[in-house]
Amino acid sequence: MAWIKVANADQLQNGDVIGVHAGQAHIALYRDDDSYFATDNVCTHQYALLSDGYMEDGCIECPLHQATFDIRTGKAQCAPATKDLVTYPVKVEGDDVLVDA
Ligand code: FES
Repeated sequence: MAWIKVANADQLQNGDVIGVHAGQAHIALYRDDDSYFATDNVCTHQYALLSDGYMEDGCIECPLHQATFDIRTGKAQCAPATKDLVTYPVKVEGDDVLVDA
């Protein structure tokens, strides 16, 4: 694990999600309530990128079959996903958003 810069803080507004790479990891980076969160970007159900999904009330909805996951904990909230997402620590240093991946 190592801290890797993945974005500039002003790339995301509250409610935004983007796909980023940190080493080999494909990560969905979220901003909500002026805090940043990171999970795996690939849905645990089949193959879809959560960064193409819809974020609301602290959850991300998969664009393919509409499973939802808590962006803070990665917890799967509803079918068809049953497996939680891996989450990653995030910190902000100045204008840089870093993920420990
Ligand atoms: S691929 Fe995400 S819910 Fe099916």
